[in-house]
Amino acid sequence: MPALGMKGSKSDDRTPGAVPLGHPALVVLAPGGRSLDRVREPAKGCRACDLWKTATQTVFGEGAKRATMMLVGEQPGDQEDREGRPFVGPAGKLLDEALTAAGIDRNEVYVTNAVKHFKWVAAQRGKRRIHKKPRQSEIEACRPWLEAELDLIRPRVLVCLGATAAQALFGRDFSVNRQHGEPVETGLAKYALATFHPSAILRAPDLGARHELMRSFIADLRRAAEFARSARAA
Ligand code: URA
Repeated sequence: MPALGMKGSKSDDRTPGAVPLGHPALVVLAPGGRSLDRVREPAKGCRACDLWKTATQTVFGEGAKRATMMLVGEQPGDQEDREGRPFVGPAGKLLDEALTAAGIDRNEVYVTNAVKHFKWVAAQRGKRRIHKKPRQSEIEACRPWLEAELDLIRPRVLVCLGATAAQALFGRDFSVNRQHGEPVETGLAKYALATFHPSAILRAPDLGARHELMRSFIADLRRAAEFARSARAA
């Protein structure tokens, strides 16, 4: 399992590695018991990048503390930003549907995002807040939180939803279109794979493309469920 800030390391050494000194996620290294709540609390006040200025709140991961499987998305959307919980908006509803179809109980997994603040721009007309893709520097600033979650949950199956999470965790050259559903060698979890982001399915250009993407999404999640079963059996 990776130590905080040491991407891909199998070491159990908790050296801070790449985590910037003073980053509030360093709390995971401090004595006094390791728990998600101890990390979730300082994450509420994170100022490691500027996204907090326009977001309502930090949206930390949630789910089973002993989850075998962790799902990682990109960043909270409009509804997640208001409610403070990951994947509760339209993309979350589609994710729930696909999880059910793949035989995965959402209550048994841990769901989080690579970036924990909503990045948005105002729509040209009206009051809508439009999702904006996070920059590399923002993904990196948030990474210690994700690594702390990985370190505390220690999932045996890691599923990246979409390119932002996959490239953050599997490398910048990773292509979801080409490599979705394939096992990825990583020190982060015994089994790892990436699949499509539910929002990409919602944005599909037509119904045919949407059904095709949904079929692949469910097939990839079924693969993850098989990995979870074999990890439990081992
Ligand atoms: N998209 C994400 O990547 N994460 C969420 O929590 C919601 C939408």
